[in-house]
Amino acid sequence: MKTIALGTEKLEVSQLGLGCMGMSAFYTGAGSDEAGSIRTIHRAMELGVTFFDTAEIYGPYTNEELLAKAFADGRRDRVVIATKFGTIKHRQNDERGMDGSADNVRLSVEGSLRRLQTDHIDLYYQHRMDPDTPIEETVGALKELIEEGKIRHYGLSEASPATIRRANAVHPVTAIQTEYSLWTRDPEAEVLPTVRELGIGFVPYSPLGRGFLTGTIRSLDQLSDDDFRRFNPRFEGDNLEANIRIVEQVDEVAREVGAKPGQVALAWLLSKGDDIAPIPGTTKVANLEQNVAAADLQLTPEQLARLDAVAAPVGDRYPDMSTVNR
Ligand code: ATR
Repeated sequence: MKTIALGTEKLEVSQLGLGCMGMSAFYTGAGSDEAGSIRTIHRAMELGVTFFDTAEIYGPYTNEELLAKAFADGRRDRVVIATKFGTIKHRQNDERGMDGSADNVRLSVEGSLRRLQTDHIDLYYQHRMDPDTPIEETVGALKELIEEGKIRHYGLSEASPATIRRANAVHPVTAIQTEYSLWTRDPEAEVLPTVRELGIGFVPYSPLGRGFLTGTIRSLDQLSDDDFRRFNPRFEGDNLEANIRIVEQVDEVAREVGAKPGQVALAWLLSKGDDIAPIPGTTKVANLEQNVAAADLQLTPEQLARLDAVAAPVGDRYPDMSTVNR
């Protein structure tokens, strides 16, 4: 698989990464098949995927531990590990909530290094911005971790353009990770132009629309009671029904090119630029193979234009939109 360089400091990653969240958290079946998840990670490596995405909050903690198991036996040095901090308050009994303080950055990184069984994190993201801590304090602490060799690069997830600029002025940001897909076009307005101006890499998460764009989710009955998507407005009752029309339009293109709708969604995203490294998530080898094959799928300009024109979805992408783009 092709590799791309993220940021002005050029972190080299495979063009498609692997989102590991669903192996341990938030989606139906999380935590139920460790062996299958590890097989999926190993198969990804065989297919040239080098970019693996986790966070301390996934589990919490167990997803990082899973990656450590998968990368034991000498694999660690062949991969780029991205993990995230900032949504667990280690100064306050590990409660959930935003904490971007320098103290919390330090407490968080030690935990992640221990669980990942590594002496450095390749890319360390602030998971969500903390309105009570100036970004300069957070990035100041991250810069120290880079100087100490504990992390190699840093990034921000779901940061606003103004925050990205302030962070980048303290130390160059390597990557911004934000939700971006055929049904989440938000970053195109301001975030993408900002990262391009500053030479920052972009990592779209949920590039398959949390699975919806694969066309395999037709009803909430398919999801367990605690699956995050049950609480996501786009998956609610009438909204889900309305949004299925989007998948139908993606499927139309998929049929023309003899591919699956999820592959078309990924190929469309990859067509948006060489500074973009989407991280589709899957727990299964077969789905991973399908997603990786999308990197070789060429769509015509006319097909891409039709996909660009797909209707906007009904419903917000989070139950509480106040925690993103700030
Ligand atoms: P996230 O970034 O939040 O993980 P995503 O990448 O948009 O979201 O989509 C992940 C979801 O799509 C998962 O529920 C995954 O389910 P599996 O673990 O069962 O694969 C699903 N998914 C990923 N690739 C798929 C594929 N090729 N076909 C069908 N579903 C797929």
